Amino acid sequence: MWTWYKLLIFSYLVTEIWMEKQFVSRRGMTLEAYSTWNHTDLERTRFKRALYKGHYCRTRGCCEDRNDDCIIHFYEANAMCYCDKFCERENSDCCPDYKSFCQGNNQYQKGCLRDGQHYGEGSVIKENCNSCTCSGQQWRCSQHVCLVRPELIENVNTRDYGWTAHNYSQFWGMTLEEGYKFRLGTLPPSPTLLSMNEMTVTLPSQTDLPEFFISSYKWPGWTHDPLDQKNCAASWAFSTASVAADRIAIQSKGRYTDNLSPQNLISCCVKNRHGCKGGSIDRAWWYLRKRGLVSHACYPLFKDQIFNNNGCDMASRSDGRGKRHATKPCPNNIEKSNRIYQCSPPYRVSSNETEIMKEIMQNGPVQAIMQVHEDFFHYKSGIYRHINNLKDESEKYRNLRTHAVKLTGWGVLRGAQGKKEKFWIAANSWGKSWGENGYFRILRGVNESDIEKLIIAAWGHLTSSDEP
Ligand SMILES: *[C@@H]1O[C@H](CO)[C@@H](O)[C@H](O)[C@H]1NC(C)=O
Ligand SMILES: *[C@@H]1O[C@H](CO)[C@@H](O)[C@H](O)[C@H]1NC(C)=O
Ligand SMILES: *[C@@H]1O[C@H](CO)[C@@H](O)[C@H](O)[C@H]1NC(C)=O
Ligand SMILES: *[C@@H]1O[C@H](CO)[C@@H](O)[C@H](O)[C@H]1NC(C)=O
Repeated sequence: MWTWYKLLIFSYLVTEIWMEKQFVSRRGMTLEAYSTWNHTDLERTRFKRALYKGHYCRTRGCCEDRNDDCIIHFYEANAMCYCDKFCERENSDCCPDYKSFCQGNNQYQKGCLRDGQHYGEGSVIKENCNSCTCSGQQWRCSQHVCLVRPELIENVNTRDYGWTAHNYSQFWGMTLEEGYKFRLGTLPPSPTLLSMNEMTVTLPSQTDLPEFFISSYKWPGWTHDPLDQKNCAASWAFSTASVAADRIAIQSKGRYTDNLSPQNLISCCVKNRHGCKGGSIDRAWWYLRKRGLVSHACYPLFKDQIFNNNGCDMASRSDGRGKRHATKPCPNNIEKSNRIYQCSPPYRVSSNETEIMKEIMQNGPVQAIMQVHEDFFHYKSGIYRHINNLKDESEKYRNLRTHAVKLTGWGVLRGAQGKKEKFWIAANSWGKSWGENGYFRILRGVNESDIEKLIIAAWGHLTSSDEP
């Protein structure tokens, strides 16, 4: 009985296939011999047939004249069928719905094509940072400058600029303006900050500065790797907390190696009301001095800054003996220690390259304020230098460009055109997938992107009982 039933289905399909065979190609596609089809094949085909319900050209879109790419799989016949005008010849290899869809009511003419897909009138698709609407048979796209620019990546990677560029998926789909707005977030330095007195380090005069210096080699386990600020424009908080944490660890000779919490700053530094919308580093250092921060483990980053009201979950109080203590438990149930860390007032380091090097080698990483250009977002490896580009729209984004990073070392290597080049090693706050494991190298001694313009550092505020 079952066998008979199968035979019945089989002969039904054979008839159907024979009937559809007339549509199938003279362009070299042959119908796979249906006698080799087994039960599974038949079921799969029937399933697909049910899915497609005769939508071939309707899915694929229709094409003018001969277009050998205007093709879609014709499952029923296990072959290809066509949706171009060339298919209507005496031995037609048009898809079954060619006549009704492409010719009938000319419905397709009301839509648009994209990558071989047909889209109805009014459809909206996203093309990197621009959205395109199908209107009057044409895609009409917004004209934003995108943060990721494939032609820029290609330009950098095919020339010898000394660094390579990468297509970062986390930046894909953002406009350049959004990049400046959400990925940086340090306000241009105030006149007060710029007029601060410079401090110079007194090294024993015979000390030669090494060719290479890497903080994490000199102080293993005491310096802190980059975090990811994501779309929170708070490099003011990330760089300050990170420099303070490194310096407290170095100054306490490894007694306190906690990373400090940028979220604590973002949520609680009320004078920087903007939080994730940008802030100033003088306010951040003020907070570190007056209120202090808990560790990053105690007050971790919010997964999504946008969905948090960013209310402050930590507070501190002075014990009258020069120390402050947290008045709230950590806002997470894993970390118990809510120790408060504080710093001295910040000081400015000279812009002189040698002075910056001495400061880093003697006291630890420093904070640097830099100007970010559009090509910097694409940095993957090597020694960064800004590549002049007419499309940079310098003026438009002037006030959005300031970024704060942490300088952790330096070196000399052969770079662009085989020339020896001096560089700084710096930690960014765009996560470890960006750049060289979250770090970047940038030309040293030429004020590249203003990296040497304003260098800030501070001492950890440790009382005598804290000293090792
Ligand atoms: C059916 O054919 C497919 C390949 O076309 C094969 O992989 C499968 O094992 C066959 N099934 C049976 C039950 O013969
Ligand atoms: C860049 O990456 C995005 C997604 O990560 C991808 O859609 C796009 O095609 C890539 N562009 C280039 C030019 O590689
Ligand atoms: C930087 O300072 C050093 C001494 O620390 C000095 O020899 C050098 O000339 C200075 N460089 C500049 C550009 O002022
Ligand atoms: C670095 O460049 C900026 C902008 O061109 C300038 O304002 C600043 O004075 C320069 N700093 C040094 C140390 O050359």
